[in-house]
Formats: sequence, C-alpha cells, structure tokens
Amino acid sequence: MEPWVADLLAWFRANPRPMPWRGHPDPYAVWVSEIMLQQTQVDTVRPYFGRFLAAFPTIRALADAPDEPLLKAWEGLGYYTRARNLRKAARLLVETRGGALPQTAAELRALPGVGDYTAAAIASICFREPIPVVDGNVARVFARRNLLRGDFRKPAPRRALAAWLTPHAAASGDPGAFNQAMMDLGARVCVPRAPSCLLCPLRPGCRAAAEGRQADFPEPPPRKALPERRAEALILRDARGRLLLARHPGERLLAGFWELPAPDALPFPLPGGRPRRVGTYRQTFSHFRLTLTVRAAPPLPDAPPLPEGFCWCADPSALPLTTAARKILARRRG
Ligand code: ADE
Ligand code: SF4
Repeated sequence: MEPWVADLLAWFRANPRPMPWRGHPDPYAVWVSEIMLQQTQVDTVRPYFGRFLAAFPTIRALADAPDEPLLKAWEGLGYYTRARNLRKAARLLVETRGGALPQTAAELRALPGVGDYTAAAIASICFREPIPVVDGNVARVFARRNLLRGDFRKPAPRRALAAWLTPHAAASGDPGAFNQAMMDLGARVCVPRAPSCLLCPLRPGCRAAAEGRQADFPEPPPRKALPERRAEALILRDARGRLLLARHPGERLLAGFWELPAPDALPFPLPGGRPRRVGTYRQTFSHFRLTLTVRAAPPLPDAPPLPEGFCWCADPSALPLTTAARKILARRRG
C-alpha cells in the first residue's frame, strides 16, 4: 500500500460522515442508497432512504410495490426513472435469483439503472471487490493530485483513471472504505472551488497543491445551452375546494405523477375566458429548461365530471405530485 492510500484510509476512519446506509448489513440497502445518490446530494437522500426502506424493506417487497406508493416514496427526489428501474431490477432478481443481489460488479452492471459507478460502489462496499469508483468527485481529486487533463465525463479518461486506481483499491485491503474515502474527500475537502488543501490527507503527494494550480484541474468541459420549453399550469378548484389535477401522460420521466393541468387542455369549457396570470415557475431538468406560466381561475360552482386522467382532489398531498405542482401549491399557500 502506498503511503497516500494509508493516509486516505486513516483520514476516512477519523472523519466518517454518518450515513444511515454505512455499515448496513443488507446489500439491498446499499443498492437503494447508491441509486438515490446517483443524482442527489447525501443530505437530501438521508430522510428518503429511511422512509423507502420502511415502505419496501426487502427486494421482494419492492418487486411487489404498486405504482403510487413507489412514486410517493420517491416524490421530490427527481429522476423517477431510477425508482422504476429499481423495481424492474427487483422483479428480475426475484424471478431469476431468488430475490438476492449478485456479488460482482460485472453482474450488478447488468441490472436496470446500475452503471459502472454504482456497480463498483455496491461490489466494493458489500462484497469487497477491488474495483474503484470514478465519479465527478473522485475524478476531481485525482485530476488535481496527478495533474490529469481531459473531460472525465467521457469514458476514455474515466477508464484510464479507473485502471490507475485499481491496484490501489486492491492494496488498500478494504476497497469499500477506499472508494468511500475518495468520494468523501471530493465532497468535503477537494471541493470544486477553494479546496481545503491544508486539511487534505493527499496533500503531500498532490501536484496541483504543490504548484498552486488547483483551479486549473479538472479542465472545465465545454458548456452547451439547454433547450427552453414553455407551458402553462392552471390552478382551479370547485366549490368544495377540491383542486383539479391531471395525470402526466406517456411512458417516461414524470409519467404517473399528478400535475396542474394546462388551461388549453381541459376536458370541459372554462367559463370566463382566459384565466388570469398569477406567477411564473422555472425548473431545470437534465435535458431542458421549463418555464411555466401559472394561471388561476375562480372556483367552479358545479364540478363537471371528469374523464380518466383527471381528478378533483381534496388532498393533493396524498398523491404523487410533480415537483412543479408541489412547489407552485406550496408557494400559493405560503
Ligand atoms: N456518493 C455515492 N455513494 C456514496 C457513498 N457510498 N459514500 C459517499 N458518497 C457517495
Ligand atoms: Fe485536492 Fe488540495 Fe487535496 Fe490536492 S491537496 S487533492 S487539490 S484538496
């Protein structure tokens, strides 16, 4: 083991970030946590993790989960395909492996929703496979330490770094700790702006710190602008205070979530012309930026009957809502 590996592990053991899935005996729990952590910060994930495991305590329970409780448990975490893939993978595991996770990164990689990073994380943490994880945090640490050029969102530089790290993960004796130490170092010490080099266990061998060039690594990737989408959302209640909601159609992303309907797509004519504008809501998704014009109409004295896909809802908080609907409604109340 090279000295920096020993220093990194010693730092990790002395400064553990408490995470409910760390030291959890069940690989299922680690799998769920790693999927939640794919696009979401640790602090956001924490409460979701506990609730999700309480709702679906085993792979079998997850395989049997109906849509609405599943989406409800994920509501607000975003990237809902992750929840659907988790359940899809759970069903596959129940059908083909008696409900148990495979123990190698190569087999884990074949599950829906599990990429190289997640497969390596689970295999190293739960099954001690000596395989390194390379995420943005880890790439930043070693781009600086070793003065590596390249865009680490691309496969070739990631693979090269993974190859360089592999013998160190093996020599560490505890690949799961080694990997989590690198992730934590990138999240807490070797942060994108103003890294805390004075507190860093890798400082003795760090070339960027030695040359004062922390800001030059990793090289910034070229930015491309996201396309803009515009739409409208209507707040409309009936005389009993029930809110009109529409179920998001289609197969992807927000499918199955309830949202505020578009005023020009109502299943009945709205009296009184175009509803008045009451605000704007903006949200950035992975592939586009959304701007919603929020409109509100006066309550309808008689609630018209609704076709499938719409509802008059007395308690919207009981349904899985899109983030946009949840935030717009909270803003109106607050
Ligand atoms: N990010 C993703 N997985 C993680 C883990 N196990 N520890 C710390 N940060 C992480
Ligand atoms: Fe990052 Fe500074 Fe540590 Fe180098 S010494 S790895 S730049 S925090």
